[in-house]
Amino acid sequence: MYGPIAAVKDLSLTIRPGEFLTILGPSGSGKTTALMLLAGFVAPNNGDVLIGGKSVAAVPSYRRDQGILFQSYALFPHLTVRRNLEFPLEMRGVKAAERATLVERMLERVHLGDFGCRMPAQLSGGQQQRVALARALIADPPILLLDEPLGALDRNLREQMQSELKSLHKEFGKTTVCVTHDQEEALTLSDRIVVMRAGQIEQTDTPEALYDRPATRFVANFLGEANILEDPGFNVESDTAQPVGTVPMIRPERICVGVSVALGRGDVDRRQSVTGTVDDMIYAGPLRKYHVRVGSSLLTVREHVASGQQIFRPGDEVRLDWLRSDIRFVAT
Ligand SMILES: Nc1ncnc2c1ncn2[C@@H]1O[C@H](COP(=O)(O)OP(=O)(O)OP(=O)(O)O)[C@@H](O)[C@H]1O
Ligand SMILES: [Mg+2]
Repeated sequence: MYGPIAAVKDLSLTIRPGEFLTILGPSGSGKTTALMLLAGFVAPNNGDVLIGGKSVAAVPSYRRDQGILFQSYALFPHLTVRRNLEFPLEMRGVKAAERATLVERMLERVHLGDFGCRMPAQLSGGQQQRVALARALIADPPILLLDEPLGALDRNLREQMQSELKSLHKEFGKTTVCVTHDQEEALTLSDRIVVMRAGQIEQTDTPEALYDRPATRFVANFLGEANILEDPGFNVESDTAQPVGTVPMIRPERICVGVSVALGRGDVDRRQSVTGTVDDMIYAGPLRKYHVRVGSSLLTVREHVASGQQIFRPGDEVRLDWLRSDIRFVAT
């Protein structure tokens, strides 16, 4: 609680040793607060935080063996990049010669080899973020707590740093808790993802399970795109009975678009086909996205661009079909 504001409510989470766990959720959903609770910067009003089975509620944050990257970077403004990186090593009593070697090696890893002498204020946002990441990693702590570690980077650099984080995790197997609002990043990096919504955990699972079997409409929409078939104006067929309090959902890439789809033999009774009118087509490099009006709903269809494929234009009549087993039911 921040005064009357409950930023996080009834949070119960077990983090497995060595796993890469991502906390994902929209802005204001309580991700940073949850991480700060783990880090010991915010004390819970009720409950406890345990590491290795022991309560750490009474252990101040700086006495815990953890590397932290804050959302606001929190670099020491009066120290050079090199001195910023040396700080956690000094705290742990590492000798000067070894510190220098470790700092140079880490600067290379985050592509900042020439920036050791700069002050934080002389760096761009993305460069500051990489220094903060380097500072969290440098003392080789067993626990890493990272708040939006790649948020300020451009796409290329972000992908490079993602694989850097991934290989570091693979190599050293540190227990890592990473906060992000970027779904793709969460899906790529994590062993498990915790989806947060309004201060509470909505669902926790592996990336594949969360994407393929979202429990709620919120998770379906937040993690990727979803066609929610609520009163769609046609009868939705499925292999399983619809549980009470749910709506059918299908992912855009599970729908095929065509004039007359060539159905495999024996496939017909496993599929549902509908006809509709193309509303618009969006070209996005390797992907093509259609919005197709079917009954009273507008369905999103996504297909990978391949040679020889027919391209449809707004106004075209098309046929959509999908496997009935690709229909999911999500709680409203
Ligand atoms: N120090 C504070 N005092 C009062 N309210 C706070 C404080 N810090 C955060 N909050 C509120 O708690 C809620 C959760 O904030 P938090 O920073 O955990 O969100 P977040 O999920 O990290 O969001 P973002 O993606 O924008 O970083 C928000 O409504 C926020 O306004
Ligand atoms: Mg935050």
